[in-house]
Amino acid sequence: MACSKRFFNPFKPSAGAEPPRIIGRDQVFLDYVSALKDGVGAPARLMRVTGPRGSGKTVLLTDLGARAQDIGWNVVNITAGVNMVDDLMYELSPDSSVDSISLAGNAAIASGEVSMGVKRPNLRALMKRRCGEGKGLVVTIDEVQDAPLEAMQLIAGSVQHLIREKENISLVFAGLPMGVMDLINGKALTFLRRAQSEELDFISLIEVKLSFKDGFAASGLILDDDQLEIMAHATEGYAYLIQLIGYYVWRFADLHRASSMQVSDEDMRLGVENAMTRFHEVVHEPAISKLTKGAMEYLVAMAREGERASTADVAKRMGREPKATSSFRRSLIQHEVIQSPVRGYVEFSVPFLREYVLDNAEELLDRY
Ligand SMILES: Nc1ncnc2c1ncn2[C@@H]1O[C@H](COP(=O)(O)OP(=O)(O)O)[C@@H](O)[C@H]1O
Ligand SMILES: [Mg+2]
Repeated sequence: MACSKRFFNPFKPSAGAEPPRIIGRDQVFLDYVSALKDGVGAPARLMRVTGPRGSGKTVLLTDLGARAQDIGWNVVNITAGVNMVDDLMYELSPDSSVDSISLAGNAAIASGEVSMGVKRPNLRALMKRRCGEGKGLVVTIDEVQDAPLEAMQLIAGSVQHLIREKENISLVFAGLPMGVMDLINGKALTFLRRAQSEELDFISLIEVKLSFKDGFAASGLILDDDQLEIMAHATEGYAYLIQLIGYYVWRFADLHRASSMQVSDEDMRLGVENAMTRFHEVVHEPAISKLTKGAMEYLVAMAREGERASTADVAKRMGREPKATSSFRRSLIQHEVIQSPVRGYVEFSVPFLREYVLDNAEELLDRY
């Protein structure tokens, strides 16, 4: 009997976890795969992916890499950090005696000698070799906001050279928006500015609804149209929330599958509530936990102004001169908590953060 069968929750609310269905990315997949097929010089071979935490950057990188692999490319995935050049070299050539080379390279980076050519030829030579095997080489770098400048210079410089040499090379890098902008506008990384930009914003709710419908139906649970509508709206098209809400609503509904396969309104209410609590813990709290008192006051004043606030109004609400608030604003922007899309205005960069700050304003200010 169907009821006695145990089903696994199809939703995957955790960082980098492959979701049951990747939605909202058809265009970028298409662009990317065409660029790989189009030959040297296709713009999308150099791509930068930006979006807030939980918007789906890691999943996208993994999937772009998988698609490249499917059509015969070599793919190397690394995460930015102090060891990224070593990691890259190891991944490029795990079977050879890279260890000794890479140790030397590491020391060179630590002592700032990379530009002296101690390592550059090695990395470039390894990359070039892999470009020549199969269709070409794809390198993906995640969390580039954490990349040491010298390491990025070394990697970007090698890629740039290989493009000039008409090798089949592709570099896709992902990170938080401010961090990525800082990096590519930084010293000696002008080449990376040419990268085609993919901003991961909201996924269409029509696609969200379809993915919920299928995800539940595949395990026998039934959602009616009104429920699909409510659940999809609650996600605001934000990748991580799609998985969280799907996961918790599914879990509550699964409890009563023996008596009813129909998802109840109570399942929905509890599911969305649990998802939001988890979202606050995993996304909102880490984003604001290290703010200074002034920055927190700025954030609260901003939340009270509206979804988008004029910096003059925020200062007025704080009872300060606009000039006296600019360091708070800068610090919030640096922490990727807010952004300034238009001069003189600020808005929240993390979904639902405004609501969270409004609901908890007193407690947040009391922490100082
Ligand atoms: N295109 C997508 N469709 C559905 N769910 C996704 C998609 N991309 C990511 N997710 C889900 O969202 C969550 C966050 O994804 P992740 O790639 O780790 O985000 P980021 O790297 O931007 O922080 C994961 O639970 C993942 O399964
Ligand atoms: Mg990630």
